[in-house]
Amino acid sequence: MFHTPALDAPDKPGQYAELAAQLRGLLHGERNRVANAANFAALVYHALPGLNWCGVYFVDAAVAGGELVLGPFQGKPACVRIAFARGVCGTAAATRTTQLVPDVNAFPGHIACDSASRSELVVPLVRADGTLLGVWDVDSPLRARFDERDRAGMQSLCAIFLQASDG
Ligand code: SME
Repeated sequence: MFHTPALDAPDKPGQYAELAAQLRGLLHGERNRVANAANFAALVYHALPGLNWCGVYFVDAAVAGGELVLGPFQGKPACVRIAFARGVCGTAAATRTTQLVPDVNAFPGHIACDSASRSELVVPLVRADGTLLGVWDVDSPLRARFDERDRAGMQSLCAIFLQASDG
């Protein structure tokens, strides 16, 4: 059994540092990207307050023009396929830039998988060779749940996931 103690740090940077250490331990010794994405999602979903969904969308290289397809996640069932440039996830994929959305209703083209979602953070998963593996998506039922500290923290967790996983 993997032990994931509750986060102790009083501030977000400290909490993300604790999560980073837990994620490294959790993924150690396994390189399968699906297994690692599943444990990444489970760790974050249960460790952080105020989330209603988190998980990975992978690039489906077989689709011309680029498309994301649902990978491991925690939360309610979600949209399976998202075209590049559609919604928050597609925008992150197409621009390869983290999307920090304080109010999803104000984001043109936002895709409402779970109507409870109010704010969202999506990090593109770019491999060391510069190619795109997919995106990491985190949703909250709270408005403006995510800030710059979450952006930095989630990006560092994504870097650990990418480094630990093949493919
Ligand atoms: N809201 C996302 C779709 C994915 S779900 O939130 C899980 C978007 O607009 O891309």
